[in-house]
Amino acid sequence: MMADFWYQCIECSRKFDPSRRLYTCPDCGGLLEIEFDLSAIAEELGKHPLKGPPSVWKYGVFLPVRDRSKIVTLREGGTPLYRCQRLAERLGVRELYVKYEGANPTGSFKDRGMTVGVTRALEYGVSTVACASTGNTSASLAAYASKAGLRCLVLLPKGKVALGKLVQAMIYGAEIIAIEGNFDQALQLVERLCRERGDIYLLNSVNPFRPQGQKTIGFEIADELGWEVPDRVVVPMGNCANIWAIYKGFYELREVGLTGRIPRMTGIQAEGAKPIVEAIKKGLERFVPVPNPETIATAIRIGNPVNGPKAIRAIRRSGGTAESVTDEEIIEAQKLLARVEGIGVEPASAATVAGLKKLLESGEVGRDERVVCVATGNVLKDPDEVVRISGRAKEVPADYEKLLQVI
Ligand code: F0G
Repeated sequence: MMADFWYQCIECSRKFDPSRRLYTCPDCGGLLEIEFDLSAIAEELGKHPLKGPPSVWKYGVFLPVRDRSKIVTLREGGTPLYRCQRLAERLGVRELYVKYEGANPTGSFKDRGMTVGVTRALEYGVSTVACASTGNTSASLAAYASKAGLRCLVLLPKGKVALGKLVQAMIYGAEIIAIEGNFDQALQLVERLCRERGDIYLLNSVNPFRPQGQKTIGFEIADELGWEVPDRVVVPMGNCANIWAIYKGFYELREVGLTGRIPRMTGIQAEGAKPIVEAIKKGLERFVPVPNPETIATAIRIGNPVNGPKAIRAIRRSGGTAESVTDEEIIEAQKLLARVEGIGVEPASAATVAGLKKLLESGEVGRDERVVCVATGNVLKDPDEVVRISGRAKEVPADYEKLLQVI
């Protein structure tokens, strides 16, 4: 059985038929969300409980796909939820986990959204998919487009995409266009292209099918904790879909009766790109875009997050908060996570640990909490950054005595 689903505008609440190819509300321009008949899902779960190891498609009953034979998968999801005792002691928090999304097929959480989004592209029968990206979205889309046999266009901010991500888009055969501008400008261009050209399907996270796949991060966290929900989930925010997606996952679990509550969603941005943190701290209804965002965490170097209104809702509705961190704090956290837990992440992901540290120190997060940090991308994504922040290797001749002198 498949539960009914539809588009619904988060601003004016109007509903639209999902057979239409929409990105935003045709009436008011607001962001769209995919909503389900959750009572039908609850009934289905009563007959067929979820089973098997965690993976995106384990939770297929919650996903908007009509024709399962079309599913495009590289076996995404099912990533480790590491209990981090040593890091918890260092930071001074009772119970800490890291959800390691770097273990996905292309090394980031984007794969969860792309398996659903590219499947949708096949259901719509388009020939070409496109995105703007700070890197990971393009790597992931390129891989899934290959698997599906679709043409793939990616628009990247010139000179600002980490090497590991760029080489992925290259080897998967995407057509790469370097924009002399930032991510926000690249996204405006590709959005216009996809609205004007009916044969090209936009797979940025403004596309409401993408966060649908990403909500399985919430499902997996709850599932692995025996349907016990943590007190708090900490997420880096860039274009701001992921924090909303994870919130939505926890919301749906509660609505179908699998869990009892929703964790406090806590979003972290870099100091040089923090429009949502400002809006949350000042209690604003709308965020003010940052014209020239800058941070070492290039994944979240975004000043005008398209999904900002969703992130603000996720944080406020869950009683969460937002914090910003400097590049120095990000680097320190990246090293700490790698050196006390053996978890290698890219800078955007390390922002969660840096943010948590700051919020524990300020008392905004309680030391008795059970917290999950979502580590969104693999350390190999940005090797240049790691070389810059690491000490050089000691060089010695191939001589045993010389070796003893340097260790
Ligand atoms: N972490 C990583 C590693 C990312 O690549 C991104 C976003 C985020 C966090 C933020 O997620 O946008 O849902 O708030 N990367 C996008 C990209 C923008 O193009 O790869 P978000």
